[in-house]
Amino acid sequence: MGLMLLNLLRSIENILGHSRFSSVLKNYVFDMREANDGIFYLHDINHTNLYKNLFRQTTMSQSDIWTEKYRPGKFEEVVGQQEILKRVKSLVQALNIPHLLFAGPAGIGKSTLALIIVKSLFGDAWRENYLELNASDERGIDVIRQKVKDFARTKALENVPFKVIFLDEADALTREAQQALRRTMENYTHTCRFIMSCNYSSNIIDPIQSRCVVFRFKLLERRDIIEVIKRITEKEKLKLTDDAYEALYEASEGDCRRAINLLQATASISLDINAEMINMIVSSAKPAGIKIVLDYALSGDFINARDKLLDLMLKESIAGTDIIKLFQKEIWNLQIEPEIKVRLTEKTGEVEFRMTEGSDEFVQLQALLASFVLAGQGKSS
Ligand SMILES: Nc1ncnc2c1ncn2[C@@H]1O[C@H](COP(=O)(O)OP(=O)(O)O)[C@@H](O)[C@H]1O
Ligand SMILES: [Mg+2]
Repeated sequence: MGLMLLNLLRSIENILGHSRFSSVLKNYVFDMREANDGIFYLHDINHTNLYKNLFRQTTMSQSDIWTEKYRPGKFEEVVGQQEILKRVKSLVQALNIPHLLFAGPAGIGKSTLALIIVKSLFGDAWRENYLELNASDERGIDVIRQKVKDFARTKALENVPFKVIFLDEADALTREAQQALRRTMENYTHTCRFIMSCNYSSNIIDPIQSRCVVFRFKLLERRDIIEVIKRITEKEKLKLTDDAYEALYEASEGDCRRAINLLQATASISLDINAEMINMIVSSAKPAGIKIVLDYALSGDFINARDKLLDLMLKESIAGTDIIKLFQKEIWNLQIEPEIKVRLTEKTGEVEFRMTEGSDEFVQLQALLASFVLAGQGKSS
């Protein structure tokens, strides 16, 4: 273990970009999560051992993570999203910020732009005038409301007559919670502006949408991703082959966070980087996540299987139909009866068909997970 493991874990953490991560590399499968006590536990799935571990002192600080280190702090540093930038800039200059709703997939500049707005409005005093909440982390709407209330109680400091609340992943809130949020927005409309982010604006109730100016962020284009990567390779003194840039863009699918994380993961192995190395890291990441979903499901833990799946779909932007393909591949590697493999494969086929017919992907995938749970209990349906 020791250093090799540490580097390995760091690479994996970078790929997945959050503290709960997993990957297959050199035949190890790890699933690492932060338990309630704030200590990281390392779960070696192959041997189903749980190591209590001392990774607390080795976890990376924010500035070690390149997505944070190179997060644009000014409008000029943002790539792509040019129409949005223009409009937002003029709203900021006029000190006329309505509530904003940023819609679009992950890793393309929504949170970044919210921060830039706040920094432009408040300068050095931005921290006192800015509250960031993540709808999927906070425990329910009551916690959010209380935090908003506490934050809104004190007046904005500077010449700006309001404070800013950024609510990330607002579409993680139920409709009822969104109704409550709407009332909160109304109560504090004189003292606070909300910036909300979501994957799909259609998941946000109309009364909130109609109170916001909606901006639709697009996946970043090839030249934009490559521009960001070039900036970082210069600063970090990396050497990339031309096809490495290409491989990074391909793997990123327009998600800048993913491109940067992949670059950092690869750079932790070597400063000379080619496409092959990037592709190796990419192919090690996805199936591992899928395997963890399957492991949870087959061990009867539906809730964790579903959460992990949602995580994969949202944070790694893997489409439902791609998830099915990964499931199909992974099923054949599982340690289960061949008969059950056949049944599960049949099920995935059915679900794939329903998806192409247009039924809700996540609902279908949950149904599939439920049948995996049954199969795991020997009751294959
Ligand atoms: N348009 C962009 N221009 C420059 N860097 C970007 C852009 N979008 C994302 N990034 C990089 O990716 C990281 C994640 O972006 P973020 O704004 O947090 O994405 P999200 O849209 O999911 O909120 C940022 O820290 C930044 O390094
Ligand atoms: Mg974000």
